Amino acid sequence: MLSNRLEIRPMAGAVGAEIGGIDLADLSDGTVSEIGGALAEYGVVVFRDQTLTEEQHIAAARRFGQIDINRFFAKTERHPEIALVVKEPDQTVNIGGGWHTDHSYDQLPALGSMLYAREVPPAGGDTMFSSMYAAYDALSDGLKETLSGLRAVHSSRHVFGKNRDGLKGRVGNPELATQDAVHPVAIVHPASGRKALYVNPGFTLRFDGWTAEESAPLLSYLYKHATRPEFTCRLNWRNGSLAFWDNRSTWHYALNDYQGERRLMHRITIAGGPLHG
Ligand code: SIN
Repeated sequence: MLSNRLEIRPMAGAVGAEIGGIDLADLSDGTVSEIGGALAEYGVVVFRDQTLTEEQHIAAARRFGQIDINRFFAKTERHPEIALVVKEPDQTVNIGGGWHTDHSYDQLPALGSMLYAREVPPAGGDTMFSSMYAAYDALSDGLKETLSGLRAVHSSRHVFGKNRDGLKGRVGNPELATQDAVHPVAIVHPASGRKALYVNPGFTLRFDGWTAEESAPLLSYLYKHATRPEFTCRLNWRNGSLAFWDNRSTWHYALNDYQGERRLMHRITIAGGPLHG
């Protein structure tokens, strides 16, 4: 499919598109606006064969908003804006190895992230994405009605508030894990105007005003529903691939199927704003 100038190839039925013919080191205002439109529509956009310095990666991210510096991840030596998402051959635990959306524990959750592949394993290390537009749309009218009155509590404490041996040196600062936030369970996406499911297995604790025990059955149902294969796509990385995902309309899951190999990614997260139902 061609928009004005973008060459867009959807990756699956519900989520994800590859965009060809773009050099992220040289973006015009028109191209930035078209990429923003594609992101709001597809949830994740992927650019192949990019050759970006750290400075060019930062400059590309800044075209889409302010950078949200992650409190917990190790950074590159020269740039705190760039979080290291790395797994060395002798490490067994990866970062992001479960369905989640980044920063939902913040009062103003991040818009999205730009993850740039600097060194990928010969096989494995794919990332899966799931569309929270598709997940919401497929719910019954009755459940949509129930969810419309609900908000959920999200937190960083249970994830980042403790030292985890398997992630030593890569994820830290547990004393900074003090964020709690309440957001609508079904949000209206600020750019597309579409409804999206906004709870996730990584950071959502419970429905606001409900106990964790009371919340668990409905949250479990929503989590299972939201990862139906037809709502997902799978990104097979190559060195130089960059994925830009929207945290408000997608979840992601970094597969950990490349033991004994190195995977090095640079992540820049872009600040977002308030979410409304
Ligand atoms: C993340 O969850 O931000 C990391 C995703 C990945 O490494 O594929």
